[in-house]
Amino acid sequence: MSKIATLEIDGNKYEFPIIEGTEKELGIDIKTLRTATGGVTTIDPGYKNTGSCESAITFLDGEKGILRYRGYSIEELAEKADFLEVAYLLIFGELPTAAQLEKFDQDIKEESHVDEDMKKILDGFPKSAHPMGVLSSLTSALIAFNPGSVDVDSEEEMYDAIVKIMAKFPVLAAWTMRKRKSLPLDYGDSSLGYVENLHKMMFSRPNKTYEPNKIVYDALDKLLILHADHEQNCSTSTVRIVGSSHAGLFASISAGISALWGPLHGGANQAVIEMLEAIKADGGDTARYINKAKDKNDPFRLMGFGHRVYKNFDPRAKIIKKSADEVLGDLGIEDPVLDIAKGLAEVALEDEYFVQRKLYPNVDFYSGIIYRALDIPTEMFTVMFALGRLPGWIAQWREMRLRKEPIGRPRQIYTGENHRDFKPVSER
Ligand code: SDX
Repeated sequence: MSKIATLEIDGNKYEFPIIEGTEKELGIDIKTLRTATGGVTTIDPGYKNTGSCESAITFLDGEKGILRYRGYSIEELAEKADFLEVAYLLIFGELPTAAQLEKFDQDIKEESHVDEDMKKILDGFPKSAHPMGVLSSLTSALIAFNPGSVDVDSEEEMYDAIVKIMAKFPVLAAWTMRKRKSLPLDYGDSSLGYVENLHKMMFSRPNKTYEPNKIVYDALDKLLILHADHEQNCSTSTVRIVGSSHAGLFASISAGISALWGPLHGGANQAVIEMLEAIKADGGDTARYINKAKDKNDPFRLMGFGHRVYKNFDPRAKIIKKSADEVLGDLGIEDPVLDIAKGLAEVALEDEYFVQRKLYPNVDFYSGIIYRALDIPTEMFTVMFALGRLPGWIAQWREMRLRKEPIGRPRQIYTGENHRDFKPVSER
């Protein structure tokens, strides 16, 4: 027996079907609301209560701290899978067989060159340009060099565009970092795995032999898996709505990069380290910063804390915190900023202000500690988030296009001036 929601307006009753997801989530289907009620709409700033789509990719339970990609728990995937396997799972829905993974890997390797003229675009940026702005621009510029990847409809055309962006995105990300360091723009080594190759492109030096490090590779691979998808977050919703106009995959990803850049979203991992460094420079006075975060008159927020969905704990933060201890231990690194982070979290998790608002460390709170240990510059942290989130964006864009979803176009409630006649300037 399907459930029904009844809405009453001015004595008139309207019924709407309730859909139930595979994890028993309920959603009121209001597709007919405006027609049935003669134009009544809903209002929900930040879409805190509004579902934009049905999706089979990622499931979150904010109360229980559950995160699953295509039904597999994040804990298992972080422990047992590698990033390219997880990318395939998110995009195509199933863990790949050895043959499928090998073909995906080879197809990506085939496409991992970038048109030399792209370097001229990169050259146009000052070294001081933020890497996220550069990466968003270069991703959009890729369209000009791959015109066949724009308004793709068939699954074959989509696969071609997907492989191209999976292959070229890490090259562009590495070039973005190397430009800032005045290093030659390196190509990878197709004998290496996806994540190993990314690390080599980022860190190889023309005057030194590149030394692979399994501890570093494994840490990076796990971080990318933990960031790979997160249902309808801000940047993914951006990718879906841009993609819904059929602007193409690369343009949608470019828009997603810009959304992720914001310090309330993916930019938080950079903001966390800057905050922790400020606390360290300020003598480690965590209490002062906790009080600033609680002060309504102070715009300061405890970066890396709080989440729209997780109201208990972010399962990714738990995994990353454990991994931070392991990686720093394995690499023999003492980072006082990690101790400050732990101290800050301990105090905040006991404080009524944070407890009452259910504010816990999120994915960004500890990730920067590991990136620092891997010698990744702070301004590149959100680029690392984007590298992880790429397969999630692709999967969500592909799902939206294969389902032929309508163009995204929310409504509003107008609160401006009523009709008024134009006045010539002499009368104003
Ligand atoms: C990511 O959506 C996703 O899935 C995102 C993400 C992903 O994988 O894609 O998980 C990645 O973006 C993680 C979040 C990274 N951002 C930060 O760490 C920035 C700091 N956090 C906040 O700005 C905030 O918590 C958000 C943006 C994450 C969530 O904001 P909401 O859900 O809109 O909550 P809100 O701003 O309405 O806050 C509710 C209350 C407010 O206080 P009151 O007005 O009720 O008194 O909690 C307070 C806020 O002032 N609050 C904080 C706080 N976060 C919320 N107070 C101090 N410090 C904070 N960090």
